[in-house]
Amino acid sequence: MSVFIGLRCAMCKTEFPSEALYVCDQCLGPLEACYDYDAVRATLTRDALADRPRNLWRYRELLPVMGEPRTGLDSGFTPLVRAHRLASELGVEELYIKDDSVNHPTLSYKDRVVPVAATRAVELGFKTFCCASTGNLGNSVAAHAARLGLTCYVFIPQSLEPGKIIGATVSGPHVVGIDGNYDDVNRLCTQVGDRYGWGFANINLRSYYAEGAKTCGFEIVEQLGWRYPRHVVVPVAGGTLLPRIGRAFRELREVGLASGELPRIHAAQAAGCAPVINALESGAEHPEPVRPDTIAKSIAIGNPADGYQVLETVRGSGGGGERATDAEILDAIGLLARTEGIFTEPAGGTTLAATIKLLQSGTIGKGESIVVCITGNGYKTSSVMANQLEEPTKLGRSLREFEAFLAERSSRPVSP
Ligand SMILES: Cc1ncc(COP(=O)(O)O)c(C=O)c1O
Ligand SMILES: [Zn+2]
Repeated sequence: MSVFIGLRCAMCKTEFPSEALYVCDQCLGPLEACYDYDAVRATLTRDALADRPRNLWRYRELLPVMGEPRTGLDSGFTPLVRAHRLASELGVEELYIKDDSVNHPTLSYKDRVVPVAATRAVELGFKTFCCASTGNLGNSVAAHAARLGLTCYVFIPQSLEPGKIIGATVSGPHVVGIDGNYDDVNRLCTQVGDRYGWGFANINLRSYYAEGAKTCGFEIVEQLGWRYPRHVVVPVAGGTLLPRIGRAFRELREVGLASGELPRIHAAQAAGCAPVINALESGAEHPEPVRPDTIAKSIAIGNPADGYQVLETVRGSGGGGERATDAEILDAIGLLARTEGIFTEPAGGTTLAATIKLLQSGTIGKGESIVVCITGNGYKTSSVMANQLEEPTKLGRSLREFEAFLAERSSRPVSP
């Protein structure tokens, strides 16, 4: 059963067949998937969901595939963690971490978007599945391509963290490191996709890929007992995730699964790559491209493909945005780990640091419910924390030495 109708231009509403198309030939607007919401309402009910597996395909009526899912049967439905200790540290009442740092199998939010793009790639007959990546996407594309037995090319900037490169290479794709930043990689990949007829998850399959990001929004509301939070804070790179969380919230209302006031959606970017925050502040309709310079490499995209939709969603929801310096990002990674035991990468540090600033400015009220989207895992980028943490204590093997260490430690003044 499929209620996916086809693609439509988000700007001029021209309709397109559900092929590997992503841009409107009339007005250059982005194409997005459309559904028969009346048909969705009939089958996607709370009762039906109660019996479905806890993966991203539980919302399949609102995902743009025609047949059965091909991969991602263990992806999505990540924990929504009630963060009591972090909440008390920040002086807020109701705080949750949407923890995609443990998304299966490659530990980032990209394991939501890639299964949808990969399933559609197979349906459309692609044999080669590719991406332009800042790291996490390459890990996910390589893993899902491996499961599906597809030929795979992952294009990345050469300067990525070793953990991210190995995380892709291990699954056996052709990893191509380009001498340039992500925006250079993306430009090349657009040409490669056209010339060779390969499926690029985030370029010619982008209309399908982006829809997978909605599942993060669906899950937040379901996990809160079909209730909208007041605020959601989301990191922005290419701008896929943030607008699709907004779309998910609206669709849940459209199909009768949730009601009430829609959440405010806030954007988080690194200070060294903040085209969206700049535009929010200046009032510009489109982000002005920037040259990235930040430790948050996974979100270092200076020219976001979906920047316009991010601005529209943030403004339309009454949200705001903040930028985090590299030092603030590292502090926030440490804070999240010390209070909640969740080790995130710099993208997650950016999101938490931005949340703290949004609280300080009063954009987010301390008594209101807040969801912070943690989208990537710190084990892939552990070297960024190398100089931030105390060295492990080194001791010999005797109890006497351990006791001497404890005595010395307890006589030290307690650090604040
Ligand atoms: C860990 C992480 N978080 C967030 C993002 C943001 O992605 P986008 O704005 O492109 O959806 C990315 C994307 O590359 C990422 O790797
Ligand atoms: Zn158009």
